Order: sequence, then C-alpha cells, then structure tokens
Amino acid sequence: MIREQLRVTTPGGAYDVLIGPALLDELAELLAARGIQGRLWLVSDPQVARLYGAGVLAALQRAGRSAALYQVPMGEHSKDPAVAAQLYDWLLDGGIERRDAILALGGGVIGDLAGFVAATVLRGVALVQLPTNLQAMVDSAIGGKTGINHRRGKNLIGAFHQPRLVLADTVTLATLPARERNAGWAEVVKHGVIRDAGLFAWLERLDGAMVPDEPARSALLRRAVAVKVDVVNIDERETGERMLLNYGHTLGHAIEAEAGYGALLHGEAVAIGMHLEAQIAERLGICAASDVARQHALLHRLGLATGVPAGMRAAALLDRTLRDKKVQAGRIRWALPHAIGSAAIHADVPESLVQAVVTAACGS
Ligand SMILES: NC(=O)c1ccc[n+]([C@@H]2O[C@H](COP(=O)([O-])OP(=O)(O)OC[C@H]3O[C@@H](n4cnc5c(N)ncnc54)[C@H](O)[C@@H]3O)[C@@H](O)[C@H]2O)c1
Repeated sequence: MIREQLRVTTPGGAYDVLIGPALLDELAELLAARGIQGRLWLVSDPQVARLYGAGVLAALQRAGRSAALYQVPMGEHSKDPAVAAQLYDWLLDGGIERRDAILALGGGVIGDLAGFVAATVLRGVALVQLPTNLQAMVDSAIGGKTGINHRRGKNLIGAFHQPRLVLADTVTLATLPARERNAGWAEVVKHGVIRDAGLFAWLERLDGAMVPDEPARSALLRRAVAVKVDVVNIDERETGERMLLNYGHTLGHAIEAEAGYGALLHGEAVAIGMHLEAQIAERLGICAASDVARQHALLHRLGLATGVPAGMRAAALLDRTLRDKKVQAGRIRWALPHAIGSAAIHADVPESLVQAVVTAACGS
C-alpha cells in the first residue's frame, strides 16, 4: 500500500520514492511499471537477507522474474574494494547484462556498496534502492551518492548513480534492534535541524524513541525524506545546498573513524558530531544556546549519546577533519545551524574555535 510518494528530479535521473507498509510485496509490479525488464540481482547482508531476502526473492520469482541474491558480511567493513570485487565476480560470472538491475536490500552500507557496483559494472546498470532501516529510508537510499571506503577515509571511492526507484517498506522497521533504530533517528533529527522546524517539533512529541504506528509512521518518514529530496533536487552534485546534509558529519566521520569502524554506529557518531558542530555555531554567535540545548535534549530522548567516547584525543579528531572530502584549499566547509530549521555553509570558521570546542569535549 503506497501511502506516500515523492519525486526526485535531477539531471542524473528522475524517480519515485515510495513509502508505505508491505510495499515489498508489490515490488514486481512496481518494477515492471518502470520498465525494469531484465534479470534482478539482489544484494543484502545476512541479517536483512534472513528477515526479508527469501520473501522478496520468492515474490519476484512468483511474478515470473529471474532473480538471485548475494549476501555480503554485515557492517561498514563491507564497503571495501575487495567486497566490491566479489560482487563483480558474482555478476559477471553470472552473465549480467545492461538491461538488468541491481537491487540493494538493507541499510546504508548495502545501498552504498551495491550502488557503487551498479554504477560501475558494465559502465552502469539500473539500481533500485530497497532501504530497510530508518537511516537508509530518509537519507542514504536517496540522492545517488554511492561509494566504498579507502584506508585513508570513508567514501573516498565512489560515483553519483541515481536509482530508478526507491521503495521504503515501513513494515521492515519493526525488526530493527533498538540501537539501530536510535542511530537512524540521528539523520531524521539532522533533517529537522537543517531545514524543517516542524519535523523537529514532531520528533519532540514522539513517545520516547519508538517509531510511531501507521499511518503516522509513513507520514513522519515522508516529512524527513522531503528534506533530502528537496536538497538533492536543487543540488545533485553537492556544490552548494547539498553540503547542508553534512551537518554533524565532519566531526561525526572523524569520531566514527577514530573509534574504529564498527565500534560506533554511523548515526551514533553523527549525533555526537551534531552536538559538537552546534556548539561551534553557538560559539560563533550564529546559533542560540537554547537551540543547542533543544537539540541535545531531543537526541537524548531518542536514545542517542552526545559525549565524545572516552580516550579520544582532540588532536586526532581535528587531524581527521582536515582529511575530509569537504575540505577546499585547506579550509573545512562546515554546515552549521542558525536555528532549529535553518542552517548554512561556513568556510571561515577559525580553527582555534573548533579546537576549543573539541578539546573541551574530549577533555584533552
Ligand atoms: N549515500 C549517502 O548519501 C549516504 C548518506 C548517509 C549515510 N551513508 C552511509 O550509510 C552507511 C551507514 O548505514 P546504516 O546506518 O544504515 O548502517 P548499515 O547499513 O550497516 O545497517 C545497520 C544494520 O542494520 C541492520 N538492518 C537493516 N535493516 C534492518 C531491519 N529491517 N531489521 C533488522 N536489522 C536491519 C543491518 O543488518 C545492519 O547490521 C555508512 O557507510 C554511511 O557512509 C550514505
């Protein structure tokens, strides 16, 4: 049942984002309606494959589609050139053709990895994003950024490759472990802070960290997805507006890497990053202390910690931020809040100010 439908329109492709309960049951028809005719190559991880993989495969096969499933190990370590190479082997040995489609069933790791492989195998085949967690539904499955990691940093190898369809089946959220669910809230909060004060206020009214029931669930997701869709429609290639989506990510990525990939969930690191970056905005005098406090309170209500993990050193974090992709001519371009619901890019933040905030948070 499609409850919500949004449209992405970029130079790289136009496609629907569909949100609703039990949408995976309708996958075969929805693909056919979009002219996706060839074989279907599903990529997932063992947890998601166990819960939904067999059901999706069976439904596709019942509808007469030729479909196969490949599982990569769970977690960030799968965004790796060696894992991408395994996928190329599976696809090319299996005889993938240009008219086929790769279906990414899972969270952001699967979406980024399978998306990158779809962008590059045979110089690009159709990609369908089937996000199964909160983070992927509201953020990573939309907008066409795909990629894998390099030992020098996250997402350093990648491509823009817009999907042909994004289908968010909200039933899948029911099986999310609490920690994953909470981590997913981080990106939803981010969307509220950067562009939608009403969404932020809605989150403040939620019953703890619980995802609401339908139809509120799909409506809330639509509201969060709309922020991403609007930003991507304005700026597909991240030259301006789209950089706002990096709010919390400059320091968040540094913290995630410094902890060692897998120790912190992506959203957990982003929550800490947002708290630090909001404090940078406060010290710059562009954001009120009361807004920083509101964000802090909401993150905690949603089960997200905001303290830098013990033992992390400010110098190490600052060093990592300078290696971020967003650095231009040695300057970090910070996405910083001005108030709940509004943010802007700042390329002129004094290093000493960032250092002061991070040092205070690390205690050294
Ligand atoms: N491309 C983009 O624009 C973009 C944006 C934001 C984040 N990202 C990337 O996304 C990745 C993080 O994604 P993530 O936080 O989704 O992590 P993830 O993909 O590792 O998923 C987290 C866990 O959730 C489990 N899971 C997913 N759906 C489930 C379900 N319905 N039931 C039970 N378990 C389920 C998975 O098995 C996995 O263990 C990072 O690599 C980040 O760089 C990309």
